[in-house]
Amino acid sequence: MPRLIIISNRLPVTVQKKDGAITYTESVGGLATGLSSLYKQSEGLWIGWPGIAAEELTPLEKAEIQRVLLERHQCFPVFLSYNEVEQYYHGFCNSTIWPLFHYFIDKVDFKSHNWGIYKAVNEKFSDSTELVLKSGDIIWVHDYQLMLLPQMIKESHPDNEVGFFLHIPFPSYEVFRLLTWREELLYGILGADLIGFHTYDYVRHFLSSVRRLLGIEDHFNRLVYEDRYVRVDAFPMGIDYDRFARIDLDSSLDLQPTNLEQRSGVQTILSVDRLDYTKGIPQRIEAFQQFLAQYPEYRGKVRWNIIIAPSRVEIGTYDELRKAVTEAISEVNGQYGTLDWMPIWYFFRSFTQDQLIHFYRNADVMLVTPLRDGMNLVAKEFIASHIDLKGMLVLSETAGAASELSEAVIVNPYDYDAIGAGLKKALEMPQEEQRYRNTILHQRLKRYNVEFWATDFIKELHKSVLETTGTNRQISIEKDSHTLESAYRNADRRILLLDYDGTLVGFHGVPDAAIPDEEIRGLLTELTQDSKNTVIIISGRDRSTLEKWLGDIDGLYLVAGHGLWVYLPEERKWNMTVVPDSSWKDIVRPIIGMYINRMPGALMEEKDFSIALHYRQCESNMATIKIREIKETLMDMTNSSVISIQEGNKVLELKDSRVNKGMAATFFIGRDKYDFCLGVGDDTTDEDLFAAIPEDGFSIKIGLGNTNAAYSLKSWKSMRKLLKRFIEISRETDR
Ligand code: UDP
Ligand code: G6P
Repeated sequence: MPRLIIISNRLPVTVQKKDGAITYTESVGGLATGLSSLYKQSEGLWIGWPGIAAEELTPLEKAEIQRVLLERHQCFPVFLSYNEVEQYYHGFCNSTIWPLFHYFIDKVDFKSHNWGIYKAVNEKFSDSTELVLKSGDIIWVHDYQLMLLPQMIKESHPDNEVGFFLHIPFPSYEVFRLLTWREELLYGILGADLIGFHTYDYVRHFLSSVRRLLGIEDHFNRLVYEDRYVRVDAFPMGIDYDRFARIDLDSSLDLQPTNLEQRSGVQTILSVDRLDYTKGIPQRIEAFQQFLAQYPEYRGKVRWNIIIAPSRVEIGTYDELRKAVTEAISEVNGQYGTLDWMPIWYFFRSFTQDQLIHFYRNADVMLVTPLRDGMNLVAKEFIASHIDLKGMLVLSETAGAASELSEAVIVNPYDYDAIGAGLKKALEMPQEEQRYRNTILHQRLKRYNVEFWATDFIKELHKSVLETTGTNRQISIEKDSHTLESAYRNADRRILLLDYDGTLVGFHGVPDAAIPDEEIRGLLTELTQDSKNTVIIISGRDRSTLEKWLGDIDGLYLVAGHGLWVYLPEERKWNMTVVPDSSWKDIVRPIIGMYINRMPGALMEEKDFSIALHYRQCESNMATIKIREIKETLMDMTNSSVISIQEGNKVLELKDSRVNKGMAATFFIGRDKYDFCLGVGDDTTDEDLFAAIPEDGFSIKIGLGNTNAAYSLKSWKSMRKLLKRFIEISRETDR
């Protein structure tokens, strides 16, 4: 069994220093208990922050903490400084991402100064991972604090399986796009082979952002990113059911100060939340106040226990919330309380989960009304704890848990009438109905418990990686460049046929922005300077662009219009390879023009003998539908003529079918006796080029996908690395 390495911001064990003594306690949260059996069984590790600032500890104490955590808890600590805690944890994580992802836009700190620290702390986690990681380990990164980490790990350890799970909602594209660093965050997450969310809504939102911001399309929740498949799916997190449903509960637990004993004729309502504005606590109190006004028969007949576990109190918005909650509770108790009845009992402290089970079992109704919540485990824990199948859950429809717990009483947390009516319904629900609803809920929670959730995720992660390794028939040059390099070294006459966009440079929103940078110009110049090399740029671009961008590189051959035009530097002029028919353009132009008017962001590019429709800038769902329509319309017209429709990367091109890159490649390959032949490209237009490469040559596809090429490379960046390697070899052999 491979080792499982879990990485989350917070370790399941919290370290504190009181009066000079170090203590170790269980962290509050469902993740720790759920995952512990899994990573411990596999001899794995949990990497995370122990919850104490580094400055509070001496070097000796740190070493001791590291030893104890490793030996007793299989945990590896990442120590954070005060400044990191402030700018990363309180700052970017909990004052920028947390409010934005929960749709509290007015609470978001959009200032950029914390972003650098967020990146630096993610790097710190990556460095810590380096220290312990072995080949074959499975890595599972958790939550919004570490969204850049999957990419960092994947880049240095491409062969390790990497999973990522987000425990909070992923917001809709319209909200996510407000973040300045949105693309970097998406690329960070895409470092994982499997990305998990609690619900399908979050999956859809994530895929929509990836599509719209990065231009990467998904196909049935799977997308191709560089040379890998990445799966995105919903895995609703479960709880440790058996722990909450057990009967041998310690009855000697001290719950004295809570005065839980039930008075006859009084029904108990319960709420348990971390102090957080996402939980809708002041709103819930106001709804309760309205409930007591609207249904006076309940005065003196209900008692509401509100447990609020202190959380992130150093952040201003949380501290204001604490005060607002205290005031709201005092107001209700002041307005409705009597000498022998207090409507709300307030506990601003945290309890152990065993203590919570007593509260859950004691409650008739559990009121859980977050304004927005990734999942909400407390709702599930309440149900599991009620082994008598009594008690009713009132649950907000904006909690992730609502999509699984539809037998609860579901309410809109902003609708106080609905909360009041829901509460009444739950309090008055006949026991038969409670039993019926709870039986269904128990079955679900028992089956899909936290262990099932984690095991399911790891199983799917493995499948996702197998999809990549199984489908990728090509040999990756990144992993084995030896054959190619030695063939290059030993050759006397080499021909290199290189596509331009996506192969030597990255993609840009508008085609003209892909202008060659200094690095690629330098590489091409040096390659052509080796007298053994014939270097040809073989592109779909028009003549004038290619000549303007690359025509001054001495000895570089250019092919434009997918093979229609050939530039021979020795003649300093362009030659046409066939005499194409372009009478069809007058018919096709107005049709494309009509579609473009209805596709904001689309561009028509008219070349000498082809027409291209670029749609990289278009909203992707709309573009997919429109491109399908255009293809159908054009297909009807082109069936009997010489025109072919060719699809590139976010571009649809119509051209004379006799013109293709394979034809141009064959022309060049036939000009001399080459003993090293290389063809590289990234999209379907390059397949003709690959087919023209002789058996003993090398064809390389950039990225993943069905191809005739024998080799693959991850990205245009890896291609540049390969060209650098060639240049080094040229220099060595020259000496
Ligand atoms: N919890 C706890 N003690 C408390 C309050 C909460 O142990 O005093 C635990 C609770 O049992 C649950 C977790 O904290 O497992 C809270 O998870 P939830 O998904 O409900 O909310 P989150 O804190 O993730 O927003
Ligand atoms: C939520 C987040 C977790 C976080 C927990 C407690 O559940 O999704 O990542 O650990 O709240 O918050 P804290 O800031 O105390 O770690």
